[in-house]
Amino acid sequence: MLVEKNVPLQALNTFHIVAKAHSLVRVCSDADAQEICAAPEWRGQPKFVLGGGSNLVITGDVKPLVLKVELMGRSLLRETPRHYIVEAGAGENWHDFVAWTLEQGLPGLENLAMIPGTVGATPVQNIGAYGVELQDRFESLDAIDLQTGQLFTLDAAQCGFGYRDSVFKHEAGEKGLGLKDRAMILRVRFALPKVWKPVLGYADLEKKQAEHGGLQPTASQLFDWICQIRRAKLPDPALIGNAGSFFKNPTVSAEQCADIIARDPKVVHYRLVDGSFKLAAGWLIDACGWRGKSIGQAGVYEKQALVLVNRGAPGEGQGATGGEVMTLARSIQTSVYERFGLRLETEPVVL
Ligand code: EPU
Repeated sequence: MLVEKNVPLQALNTFHIVAKAHSLVRVCSDADAQEICAAPEWRGQPKFVLGGGSNLVITGDVKPLVLKVELMGRSLLRETPRHYIVEAGAGENWHDFVAWTLEQGLPGLENLAMIPGTVGATPVQNIGAYGVELQDRFESLDAIDLQTGQLFTLDAAQCGFGYRDSVFKHEAGEKGLGLKDRAMILRVRFALPKVWKPVLGYADLEKKQAEHGGLQPTASQLFDWICQIRRAKLPDPALIGNAGSFFKNPTVSAEQCADIIARDPKVVHYRLVDGSFKLAAGWLIDACGWRGKSIGQAGVYEKQALVLVNRGAPGEGQGATGGEVMTLARSIQTSVYERFGLRLETEPVVL
């Protein structure tokens, strides 16, 4: 097992922030993961699990041992009466895996196309887009307890999924198991429906459907539509550093929603089944005048105010620092709070 020293992280985080890991190990198998947990020099030492680095803001050189997830492999494991069970190594690129499932004739993940990052990161924040969340297609995962070196398996209920949330984001005692900074996901299994139906109903998708004469899309057409929609409004991290949505869409009570509508009747809001309301954070930020603005080299994306970007070109010079990104994020939170009385929660992990 090779521990690399002073490893540049710019190419390993999609914000392309310049920083170094003091120590980094590439984990390619369960045995590698067990070896690092058992190694006397690393036992009890803080560790940080790095997947695709697509939901991460690095604010300085990283002192915890970085475990770079590189477990690969994807396969159709078995079938149940209603599902195909497909498994992928945590280090697989998420979008490539989605494309592969479609090539195998196993639809179900197409609405989640083009989300940056690795398979292993998807359960952590229960990724979601265009009416589908990971939890809708999740079967189980294998992970290792970084404190004890024990391998374990979790089903969906044990993962405690919520909107952009899971046990992997909570301290012990806070939410069921509480596995924050404690577990490394090794592989994930998905249950893909044998009887497939497109998930439409999202405004951008209905527009596409209308453009195609009301056609009921196949899974690969839907995949193409999702790719087109995302390309049109979200920055490609290979060209413009970013970590996707920087804030969560807030959920508020009916009373709070009425208060916000009174402040601005145009506020974009959706009623949820329990009577609460989800607000579009991008709209709130936009309404505060932040779209296209910058602090230092950190900016608010011109086409979607929910996404913060690095204005420095990837691979060239310093670009935005993590500090600039967080200063911008805090300034946005203050504006939204002053105007709408609402505190936006950040989405990425800040290291
Ligand atoms: N809006 C504005 N101005 C903006 C941005 C958005 O007015 O600058 C308005 C839009 O016009 C729309 C509403 O806000 O009426 C919602 O915008 P959009 O449809 O783009 O979706 P979103 O709620 O901003 C969420 C997810 C995205 C996901 C899309 C599609 C979160 C935090 N974000 O964005 O996820 O792709 O829905 O399902 O839930 C991600 O997590 O990284 C991500 C990109």
